[in-house]
Amino acid sequence: MTRGRVRGIVLFMAAVRNTGADHTGRGMAAHLVAKTSEIAENEAKKVIIGDQHIAIYNLGGEFFASDDICTHAYASLAEGYIEDGCVECPLHAGRFDIKTGKAQGVPVTEDLKTFKVKVEGDSIYVEV
Ligand code: FES
Repeated sequence: MTRGRVRGIVLFMAAVRNTGADHTGRGMAAHLVAKTSEIAENEAKKVIIGDQHIAIYNLGGEFFASDDICTHAYASLAEGYIEDGCVECPLHAGRFDIKTGKAQGVPVTEDLKTFKVKVEGDSIYVEV
């Protein structure tokens, strides 16, 4: 094996370790999505990463992320109402637990996908 090929493998392994990607190079990567000061308590911000629409929530200074689009019909949950750890959809008032994405009852029956959030200093990262 040549020295250049070994160096390439070492760089690839370092990239995998930093992104959480699997050995194929696919997998999760942390994306900087907002500053903590951009999202007030009990508010949310919509971000788009690739083709994913994601809502970032501030619950008492802790940040969480889920799919932004309601599982019932097409509505942005970042425009919803946040109360008691849940987001209420602005279209038909379906509610989801923000931490788990769990649907809380009719009209929503399908849970939201949630994403891992990491805060470093005042920067919010989402793993997608
Ligand atoms: S679109 Fe969200 S509850 Fe209907």
